[in-house]
Amino acid sequence: MSNPQHFFEIIKKRFFKRFFGQLTQDIGIDLGTANTLVYVRGKGIVINEPSVVAVNKRTGQILAIGREAKKMVGKTPGHIVATRPLIDGVVSDFEITEQMLRYFINKVTQDNFVLFRRPRVLIGIPSGVTEVEKRAVMEAALNAGARKVFLIDEPMAAAIGARLPVTDATGNMIVDIGGGTTEIAVISLGGVVISRSLRVAGDEMNEDIVRYSRDEFNLLVGDKTAEEAKIAIGSAYQQRERLIFALRGRDLVSGLPKEVVTTDEHMREAISRSIRIIVNNIKTVVEETPPELLADIMHRGIILAGGGSLIRGLDKLIANQTGIPVRLMEDPLTAVVRGTGIVLDDMDQLKEVLISEEANKPLG
Ligand SMILES: Nc1ncnc2c1ncn2[C@@H]1O[C@H](COP(=O)(O)OP(=O)(O)OP(=O)(O)O)[C@@H](O)[C@H]1O
Ligand SMILES: [Mg+2]
Repeated sequence: MSNPQHFFEIIKKRFFKRFFGQLTQDIGIDLGTANTLVYVRGKGIVINEPSVVAVNKRTGQILAIGREAKKMVGKTPGHIVATRPLIDGVVSDFEITEQMLRYFINKVTQDNFVLFRRPRVLIGIPSGVTEVEKRAVMEAALNAGARKVFLIDEPMAAAIGARLPVTDATGNMIVDIGGGTTEIAVISLGGVVISRSLRVAGDEMNEDIVRYSRDEFNLLVGDKTAEEAKIAIGSAYQQRERLIFALRGRDLVSGLPKEVVTTDEHMREAISRSIRIIVNNIKTVVEETPPELLADIMHRGIILAGGGSLIRGLDKLIANQTGIPVRLMEDPLTAVVRGTGIVLDDMDQLKEVLISEEANKPLG
């Protein structure tokens, strides 16, 4: 400290540490069919927006992304479409997915003064996706500005988000019911032992409700209304009190607006098929689970994550049908992105939970 030269060295080091420290900015992304969440290391969850992009079909121009775009769903003139680039948990439109990722990545890196903004990105993807789809997601993230991309199975990320001991030699069972996919997985020693990925989840329940109201009440309702009804009164198990919701739409006979007061019983019936599919698949995974792991799961319970797990009484129904206790995790919609955050914070210890290095390498 005594001579100015030394002092200058220290200042320089601090300066570089401060600015270059931020160069290794890490971002975790839950690229969900319904919602996209972004975690920034050191900051927490900074983005939580619908996975919707509004595009002008005539010009190909993107008009809005996220919350702004969701407001337009079902309300746009013919040449403007509000699309969800991911359907059933897979990339249905590569270019729009890339644009959406770019928008979110830019949004979180923009407000930081960094000389070099390209972050390392960890993305949760459904366990059922093909190699081609994995590559599509990785390429989209690289094109969107990521320096390096890592992938993690969504159920693994959700289990880590639920603070399950995924790297121990013990059985953990997680069921993540999202918008497009339901992921059922048994995890032990940092790997997925058994898994199933169904294309039946929250969105399908909305469609069930649209179909049901058409068939039962001659009432045409939009997806958004169906979703509101599901969230307001949807259940998988008989409720103690009667719940009601006024469904508004168009009378299919007269063509005029109509309102029908529906009950939780109607909604239960409407979504029963989807619920049955989910429960039956959980049972199948339980049946396929090796007995040692099953004993651990009996002890710890099945953990539910994802927005779809908030259907009233679904936990009780699954517990009854499987004979295994069921625990609904806290804040189930953020489980996956919180899991990616935990992995980013402890990359050295948790490397083993990522989808193989091999898959990551060629594009990294
Ligand atoms: N309180 C609630 N009750 C019932 N369903 C709900 C509730 N809140 C949200 N949902 C449903 O949860 C779904 C969205 O959940 P989530 O954000 O976990 O999905 P995602 O991660 O975007 O989709 P995926 O994991 O399939 O890619 C939507 O279908 C939404 O309607
Ligand atoms: Mg999800």
